[in-house]
Amino acid sequence: MPGKPIEELERELGVTNTLKLASNENPMGPSPLVIEAINKAKDNIALYPDGNGFILKQKLSKKLKVEQQQITLGNGSNDVLDMIARAFLCEGREAIYSRYAFAVYPISIQSVNATAKVAEALPVEHETNPYGHDLTAMKALITDKTRVIFIANPNNPTGTWLKSEELHDFISNIAKDIIVVVDEAYFEYVKEGEYPDTVQWLEEFPNLIVTRTFSKIYALAGLRVGYAVCSEEIADLLNRVRHPFNVNSLALHAATAALDDQAHLENCIDINIKGIKFWRAACQYRGLDYIPTVGNFITIDMEQNAVPIYEAMLKEAVIVRPIPNYGLPNYLRITISTAEENQRCLDALDIALEQYPIDDE
Ligand SMILES: Cc1ncc(COP(=O)(O)O)c(C=O)c1O
Repeated sequence: MPGKPIEELERELGVTNTLKLASNENPMGPSPLVIEAINKAKDNIALYPDGNGFILKQKLSKKLKVEQQQITLGNGSNDVLDMIARAFLCEGREAIYSRYAFAVYPISIQSVNATAKVAEALPVEHETNPYGHDLTAMKALITDKTRVIFIANPNNPTGTWLKSEELHDFISNIAKDIIVVVDEAYFEYVKEGEYPDTVQWLEEFPNLIVTRTFSKIYALAGLRVGYAVCSEEIADLLNRVRHPFNVNSLALHAATAALDDQAHLENCIDINIKGIKFWRAACQYRGLDYIPTVGNFITIDMEQNAVPIYEAMLKEAVIVRPIPNYGLPNYLRITISTAEENQRCLDALDIALEQYPIDDE
């Protein structure tokens, strides 16, 4: 169940000026360098894109200090997750992920008829990582049929994250014939000291695949471009199941240009950190519990079915995300935005909460 599209809401309710904070998109939009690059690239859309994505891989390889042959480009990182499933899973094989983890893992696993093993997450009462991945529980699910383990760091929709030491210990103890996927879609947003840059572990762990995306902080969700970084051997396997022109030419040029604008990136990080503080304070003031987040979204406990609150907010032309499909029916996930948009969303939430008050007892 993806975030409700703005056009759909405006068609259905006749509202205008809709604010969508439902899909963890970047409210700042892309760097101006991206728009410039797209303007230039548009003259060549009659031609197929470079199927090898040379310009983007070249720039990424310099930035990440890996060989170009270690990079696999995807139509969004979803596409890369799918390639991993196609390359390593099939009927009779198993893949492990955590409860409340990103929704594409079960879809990719199912699409190749493999078996999903879902580890229980940490309890909501956990001191530092409520609803976070429980690596011990994940390890306990390994059998001789396990081929892939998916770990989202940070995870969506919880915003929880794993520290360098615990994740490193976990991967160190996994047999080398099991692929460990660390999905870092929100990597650039995380500024915690103990948050790992797992690309640096690739030499140590030949079975590690790190996935990242241009959909989040680089604000290119509509163009669909993400990537995996791993050993050359695994990248070769992924590229065998990759569709030849999976990343379009506008996306290739846009993503390449996006990497040049560090100032824009820093500004987006700064706005997000301020936004997290805004939402924390707003929740505390209202007595609302939230899951501590390091992503560009915050997941808040409405202590009742959150769908009516979501629907009341729609009437205020604000789209957020109820997440019953993640097994969290009482929670709303809200994308963190600019000061003005955060306030508008909070005002809509306050109006909804007048109708559906939280029980303070
Ligand atoms: C944890 C996580 N991984 C991967 C993705 C996929 O993003 P994309 O396919 O746009 O790169 C998302 C998108 O929301 C996500 O939250």
